Amino acid sequence: MTMKKKELIVTSALPYANGPLHFGHLLEHIQTDIWVRSQRILGNHCIYLCASDAHGTPIMMKAEEENIAPEKLVDKYMKAHKKTLEAFQVSHDCYYQTHSEENKKYSELIYNTALENGYIKKQNIKQLYDKDKKLFLADRYVQGNCPKCNAPDQYGDNCDVCGAKYEATELINPLSIFSKKPPVIKDSEHLFFSLTKLEAEIKKWIDESSLQESVINKLQEWFKDGLMDWDISRDAPYFGFKIPGFEDKFFYVWLDAPIGYIGTLEKFLKDSKNKASAKDLWSEDSRHEIYHFIGKDILNFHALFWPALLHAAEFKKTI
Ligand code: MF3
Ligand code: ZN
Repeated sequence: MTMKKKELIVTSALPYANGPLHFGHLLEHIQTDIWVRSQRILGNHCIYLCASDAHGTPIMMKAEEENIAPEKLVDKYMKAHKKTLEAFQVSHDCYYQTHSEENKKYSELIYNTALENGYIKKQNIKQLYDKDKKLFLADRYVQGNCPKCNAPDQYGDNCDVCGAKYEATELINPLSIFSKKPPVIKDSEHLFFSLTKLEAEIKKWIDESSLQESVINKLQEWFKDGLMDWDISRDAPYFGFKIPGFEDKFFYVWLDAPIGYIGTLEKFLKDSKNKASAKDLWSEDSRHEIYHFIGKDILNFHALFWPALLHAAEFKKTI
């Protein structure tokens, strides 16, 4: 019996470019590599992609600490990641980085299409701001007493002692970890992706997917709590791609990171002199099947935000 060979695009999660790889990364990449090799033995065609995840505040801070430009830091760790993966014989068809022209192009395209289709809205939010450092503080950059149990030295999102979840602005006696001074509350306009509008679409995608039962159960918990619109912008200073139409707003790293899968595919196609674009292979009517290997801590990004974003931007959703 002859079966039509499948066309597969396979990815491992993109490691952050602010440190060397650890065993967790290797476990995931080696597992993916074994699966890719087994698919090839079965006669299926696989493009196996990965990249270093280049953006966000921790990378910007690390570059500052090392006194080099973030681009330099990213190049350095990308090379280190590549070398380690090669030493373990992980055989990507392309290993790239998310700070690339290809990723910028697709991040803008996906954002602009989602915007045209009515899935992006503006909203003012209040955030803690370090006046000395001139920086809006992400949850991990502020510490204070838990608003529920008063435990000291808790971060801005949840309490390690009692498990309470809260907003950073609710912390009692908050201090910026940079200046060690109390931050002020400052208003800023942010862009939100309307996840709530796509609830039915995401549910449908989950029902039709081949996700494992335990994964589906975890996803149901988020639906039970109710989905919320997703803040996709960050104010300067930030290392990332500028949002079209704004001078000092950047895409949140988790917006452009998965789009990095598509950017890396584009780079692979260019390098292998293939005439197709990444969009051709990632379009609704393409026969390519897309598989992402991930760890469970990033399930929400891949199984809620990512299919919703692909839907809003008229790309093919992942398996
Ligand atoms: N860098 C992220 C992490 O280590 C993973 C990014 S995967 C992608 O948690 F989807 F964003 F690409
Ligand atoms: Zn607490």
